[in-house]
Amino acid sequence: MIALYPGSFDPITFGHLDIIERASRLFSKVIVAVLKNPNKTPLFSPEQRQAQISLSVAHLKNVEVDTFSGLTVAYARQRGAKVIVRGLRVLSDFDVELQMAHTNKLLAPELETLFLATASEHSFVSSSLVKEVAKLGGPIDHLVPPPVVQDLRERFPLAG
Ligand code: PNS
Repeated sequence: MIALYPGSFDPITFGHLDIIERASRLFSKVIVAVLKNPNKTPLFSPEQRQAQISLSVAHLKNVEVDTFSGLTVAYARQRGAKVIVRGLRVLSDFDVELQMAHTNKLLAPELETLFLATASEHSFVSSSLVKEVAKLGGPIDHLVPPPVVQDLRERFPLAG
């Protein structure tokens, strides 16, 4: 069964990577899909994010990385995915995630959303927090995979 893990991934963190690794053990194939969102100004382009994720999941043979625009359910249908995977870190994630899951269920009743609890050691990590720490010169190598550390250091020369 194919699972889709959609998101912004600006950039991918160890929390996301934990979800990808665990989903890759549950499904025959996992497609990690970076949303091209015209309403947001990301730090990294969708293609840069796709490259960062591809390098970070190179050890996982059943994981593919792509970009997409439009509705997640439309992309899931197009790719033959039956499950949408999302990570839950803390209770406050739940509100918006449940809203998205219900919306997606209404739009595509045949798809299921599967929530995985992010590993506790990564449950405080977010892409925004990583960007702030990098910008302000803090150490980031415990938060994001090596390809992202490199890109953040290029972008923010102060980053540790
Ligand atoms: O990493 P994020 O920003 O929490 O991911 C959110 C994402 C990309 C999964 C969500 O915004 C999404 O699915 N956007 C695509 C548009 C869509 O399908 N909207 C309706 C369902 S909520």
